[in-house]
Amino acid sequence: MRTPIIAGNWKMHKTVGEAVEVARKLDEQVADSPVEVVICAPFTSLSALSALGLKKVKLGAQNMYYADQGAFTGEISPAMLEDVGCEYVILGHSERREIFQESDELINKKVLKALETGLKPILCVGETLAQRKAEQTTDVVVAQTTQGLAGVSAKQIAHVVIAYEPIWAIGTGETSDGKDANQVITSIRQTLAELYGPELAEQVRIQYGGSVKPSNIAEFMEQTEIDGALVGGASLKVEDFVGIIRY
Ligand code: 13P
Repeated sequence: MRTPIIAGNWKMHKTVGEAVEVARKLDEQVADSPVEVVICAPFTSLSALSALGLKKVKLGAQNMYYADQGAFTGEISPAMLEDVGCEYVILGHSERREIFQESDELINKKVLKALETGLKPILCVGETLAQRKAEQTTDVVVAQTTQGLAGVSAKQIAHVVIAYEPIWAIGTGETSDGKDANQVITSIRQTLAELYGPELAEQVRIQYGGSVKPSNIAEFMEQTEIDGALVGGASLKVEDFVGIIRY
């Protein structure tokens, strides 16, 4: 049985004070939830959130660089993330791929380094609207999954979370329907089975992301292959995020 994982991606939102207030309330309200709950906050808030000693909610970052240290102005190392209490790190988010031109090759280097350091990557994959219309969805997500995981060992794969986020559904209010997302996620799991064998593929958690809200979370979570959600906008407000976690 895979433990569901609901992660909030706060993107470039919240000052330290705002982050602390939301995290504290969230931690109280989901204390008895059986699902794993993660907040991926901006770098600037991680240290303060870690100092809260949250009981239930785990911390994640939204990006990192793959070097240990050095002359990489503006970048953050995996060891720095561990130092401020992160267990997870989102890698290859479509906003990083599109706005900051991150390639599958770069994302793969980050995935390998995160795992080597002991961080659990949340590897994001997903197609654009044009790719969907051209019926390339499966090819795109399978290629992103395969390239993102190149060199990840059988021992490491269970520590990886994959997030399927169709780009046209991010922040648009449009969602993939549950069955459709389940089908794409099934093809991701088949790819994992080809790479690592069916038994290990069954252990990897695969989330859906893209306009997830309290009102539509059940549609995704009732699908056999969907193990959680990566939530943007609706993770910013305690009430909404709690509604999703209590699906
Ligand atoms: P929204 O939930 O705001 O659509 O964002 C999804 C997302 O990009 C999470 O990583």
